[in-house]
Amino acid sequence: MRIILGITGGIAAYKSAELARLLANQGHRVRCILTEAGARFITPLTLTSLTGEPCYGANPDQGEWRASPSIEHIELARWADLVAVAPATANILGKAANGLASDLLSTVLLATRAPVLWAPAMNTGMWEHPAVQANMARLRSFGHAVVDPGEGGLACGEEGSGKLADVASIAEAIQAHGTPKLPILRGQRVLITAGPTREDLDPVRTLTNRSTGAMGIELARAFRDAGARVQLVLGGDLPAPWGVETVRVRSAQQMLEACEARWAESDGLLAAAAVADQRPGTPSSEKVKKGDGAETLVLVRTPDILARLSAARRPDQWVIGFAAESEKHLEHASAKLKKKGLDAVLVNDVQDGRAFGAQANTLTPVTAQGPHPPMGPLSKDQLARAVAQWWAHQLELRPD
Ligand code: C5P
Repeated sequence: MRIILGITGGIAAYKSAELARLLANQGHRVRCILTEAGARFITPLTLTSLTGEPCYGANPDQGEWRASPSIEHIELARWADLVAVAPATANILGKAANGLASDLLSTVLLATRAPVLWAPAMNTGMWEHPAVQANMARLRSFGHAVVDPGEGGLACGEEGSGKLADVASIAEAIQAHGTPKLPILRGQRVLITAGPTREDLDPVRTLTNRSTGAMGIELARAFRDAGARVQLVLGGDLPAPWGVETVRVRSAQQMLEACEARWAESDGLLAAAAVADQRPGTPSSEKVKKGDGAETLVLVRTPDILARLSAARRPDQWVIGFAAESEKHLEHASAKLKKKGLDAVLVNDVQDGRAFGAQANTLTPVTAQGPHPPMGPLSKDQLARAVAQWWAHQLELRPD
């Protein structure tokens, strides 16, 4: 993606260097525009060195610098796939909300047709002022995205809201807002299960598996970026992705209840969780003492979440399951497809520990038409995007 990163004059401008670097490392082209006040906090040299691209706008040594003053703002406005402003001061928000164009950044913001994203940062009193909030509402009404500031200790010594959102969240929001949407997935409500479940034997011991939830989290990101409204029901300890409504669960029963509560309002399900198939028959509320000899653990089956939701589906809802098989994976997948009444099964080959926690993965889709060409090996984020594209294409082929 070609990103213009506008940096305005707030102490959080020092964090923009980290953001610029993160985005550049993710493979984006990043061109920074500094306002005059921004250039008092951070230098063009820092930003150029981190991005490998020219830095525009104010330069403390030269005033506002422009290579070709007459058309530069239009060229930059056209070049961008997305314009992000982080940190955004009350001043730039006010200008952009009211169509003022008094320097390079505000002019580019007015001229661009690219998506715009704001990450405001300011004193709590300023952030809460009705004038700033009215400007935010107006910017949102233009279709601009906002990464709301967080709460915390501010540079002015106050505690409250107005702290620049963390850099990783801003980078994710840029990815989400700037990725071209897949029209058929736009606005779809997609429910995703991810991660392991944990079945407690007692307050200390638990039964679980080697899944981390990384693939399901990347699917949540990919469907979010494609334009879907994603709800993620997540086991395990990985952090929840930005912009995805996430419910954290521990056991298969909790995962089932969280899914059932959301299924009716969903258009589709991706069941990527590695749900424990068994749980202890009689979990103990106190830590179980060790015995001397051999001990027996009685296990009972957990609910099959995918089968339950599939059985309760409406004809307009779609259901995709996953399979992690170590042998005869395509035959097992076809059987699962029929048994659980699914639209597709995406098959992992987990021989030799492949897939679990690994960086790269391959998925082979199986539908009623049979196996489709495998996707991968790809990193999990790329694979998730391939899945979103593949499924969007399948939905387009479906008779109404
Ligand atoms: O039957 P099997 O466990 O091989 O099926 C795997 C698929 O079913 C995955 O999509 C998994 O998320 C889902 N599943 C589930 N609830 C279970 C077991 C599996 O949703 N209890």
